[in-house]
Amino acid sequence: MATNSVTGRLNPLWETYYRRAEFQRNMKIRDVLLSDYGKASSIPSPVNQLMTDFAVGFRDGRDINLGVGYVNEQTIPHQQIQHACEAVLAHPKKYRASLNYGGAQGSPNLIASLRRFHIENRIGGITEQTLNNRDIVIGANGATSLLESITHLLPAGIVLTADPMYYIYCNDLGRKGFSVIAIPEDDEGLNAERLRMKLRTLGNEKEAIRFFYVVTVNNPTCTILSNNRKRELVDIVTRLSYEVGRKIPIFFDNAYRDLVHDTDVEPLASALCYDTLGIVYEIGTLSKILAPGLRIGYLIGPKGRFLDSVIQRTSDIGFSAPLINQEIASYLLDHGIEAQIQKVNNGYHQKAKQVKPWIAELLGDNVQECRGGSAGFYYYLTLANATTDTTSDFFKFLTRTTGQEKVDGPPGSQHPKVVYIPGEHCVHPAGEMVGVGKRQFRISYGFEELPQIHEALKQMKSAIAYNHENS
Ligand SMILES: Cc1ncc(COP(=O)(O)O)c(C=O)c1O
Repeated sequence: MATNSVTGRLNPLWETYYRRAEFQRNMKIRDVLLSDYGKASSIPSPVNQLMTDFAVGFRDGRDINLGVGYVNEQTIPHQQIQHACEAVLAHPKKYRASLNYGGAQGSPNLIASLRRFHIENRIGGITEQTLNNRDIVIGANGATSLLESITHLLPAGIVLTADPMYYIYCNDLGRKGFSVIAIPEDDEGLNAERLRMKLRTLGNEKEAIRFFYVVTVNNPTCTILSNNRKRELVDIVTRLSYEVGRKIPIFFDNAYRDLVHDTDVEPLASALCYDTLGIVYEIGTLSKILAPGLRIGYLIGPKGRFLDSVIQRTSDIGFSAPLINQEIASYLLDHGIEAQIQKVNNGYHQKAKQVKPWIAELLGDNVQECRGGSAGFYYYLTLANATTDTTSDFFKFLTRTTGQEKVDGPPGSQHPKVVYIPGEHCVHPAGEMVGVGKRQFRISYGFEELPQIHEALKQMKSAIAYNHENS
């Protein structure tokens, strides 16, 4: 009972309760205090928002997603992974305690397998000697976690990269307080001459450069960084390091390095082979050649304080990648990885070869430039006379948000929607490409199958016509 039956007064406990409730009602309570990074992260990035909006109403078998960076399901070796899992669990002597915690550098089996994989296949010209004074470190959760670790281990400052840029990482860098400078790429990758010019204009600000980030098969464009350009970039950053009197690391992101499916392309050299100062790091992943779900990414670089700090950071954020996944990956690298890579590349090559003529046939002169097709699984298009940003008629037509029933279809049974990544999200918002970026977009031929991609391109043709009718 809240009141005393004799005195009629509130029981003291209830009195306290009511007083506190009233106090809280009268007091304005502020929300959880967020760090600058927390504040920036409380708003989803534009691409996350776009993908979430699309995913919410996605209709399987009707809508077409050329926006996601998902690999093709058919390239994932489901059976081999199942077999590898059984083999790992059946051999506890080799794969010790594989369902337990692992060490922070990564599974010794996986590290040995990666070494062998690189040396035996002479990936990029890597030899035993290349790896002698270098270490391999496994990330906590794919290459992404290693990229993210860098943002915690190096002080905020300037990061140089290519434009268009890998928007996911560059967005993360921005939220962590880094200032990204993006240098337009040409058909050999990040333009070295423009980079030299930029460095000259930076003057004393060069002191604030923290690192370079270069994607060797760029995402979104799939432009392949040529060996010459790679050597030139290492040379520029080596000179810059001497100039500022401090080693400036250059990270090469090799996410799609093993997906060069055009046999006319020169074999890609490893940037490690060009490094004389100990500033080159390569980031690799098994996501594209095995399965993103394994979440295995790795970093190769000179032994030393930086790699040690990456290992500690991995420990801080979850000890290491799930050990069972690392052991499965080790087994797969030791058993038939070459055939698997071949299979993956054949699949993407067939698709790239088929999609390119469809782009020409359906979009024709409306396409001013088309990049990609030799590696990875994206085409990056520049339209001649139509914008592609989220306010454009092209975008509204494809996402069925024009507000006109004849275009969108009847409510509840809309026409097929098509999603792509608008170029406005891929180019640096304050860079030189911001204008042209509004006419660009990335389409993936990885995830969807060919009939759906063909249908999506037909819809794009209609979207361009709709844009022209309205302009
Ligand atoms: C350039 C680039 N780096 C890294 C990643 C992520 O790799 P992981 O799956 O190992 O985190 C991707 C994924 O699409 C990518 O495009």
